Amino acid sequence: MNFMYEVGELKLTPMNQNVYRMRSKISEKEHESNPHRYEKWMLDQDVTEHNSHGLFKKSKQEIESWLDECENSKSSIHFAIYKSDEWIGMVSLQKIDYINSSAEIAIYIGEKKYWGRGYAKVAVKTAVKHAVLKLCLRRVWSGTAETNIGMQKVFDSLKFKHEGTFKHAMYLDGLFVDVYAYGYVHSFLNSVWLSDES
Ligand SMILES: CC(C)(COP(=O)(O)OP(=O)(O)OC[C@H]1O[C@@H](n2cnc3c(N)ncnc32)[C@H](O)[C@@H]1OP(=O)(O)O)[C@@H](O)C(=O)NCCC(=O)NCCS
Repeated sequence: MNFMYEVGELKLTPMNQNVYRMRSKISEKEHESNPHRYEKWMLDQDVTEHNSHGLFKKSKQEIESWLDECENSKSSIHFAIYKSDEWIGMVSLQKIDYINSSAEIAIYIGEKKYWGRGYAKVAVKTAVKHAVLKLCLRRVWSGTAETNIGMQKVFDSLKFKHEGTFKHAMYLDGLFVDVYAYGYVHSFLNSVWLSDES
């Protein structure tokens, strides 16, 4: 049994083996030999345009060990994002560090037809709320390519700060691009944006 967040049109629930196996089948119309949904996103050259996935095919063992991590790890939590009953993406808190009270956040809206509808903002905010209000973490951080304008807008709108720049740190499509470090440091004296009204 899993807990679930219902926010607007979206539902977020922690990923586990059952969720993956039940929900990863692509639509009937698509060809039998297509990979499962998560693998499909990781290989899609549009979805991976601004990040470092999509370079190698994921092996069965890699998928299995990722699923084991989803099931058992206390240092990461991967939320499956649903619109109605369709699994459309993932938002993850990873590298959870209980000593330094921090975690890295990663987001994938893998089904491209849902881009630009505000879903990443909702999903990232929900995951940050989980980090702060449930796991007692203070800092949530991430890095994104200078070319990833959508991701920068998501972070800017959710009060993440652009904390610094790693110069020429990512090789994307023939160019070395900068990576922007983003961080949100929570102050319990200033929790307003976590409320549903903000
Ligand atoms: C980046 C990503 C998460 C954005 O998701 P999304 O659901 O489309 O984002 P939202 O709809 O919440 O958009 C937030 C803002 O960014 C804008 N935006 C989204 N994609 C954009 C793009 N490609 N170019 C310019 N602006 C974009 C939206 O218009 C919105 O702007 P607003 O605040 O002015 O209204 C999504 O495109 C994605 O999953 N990409 C592939 C994986 C990825 O790159 N993940 C991040 C790795 S660091």
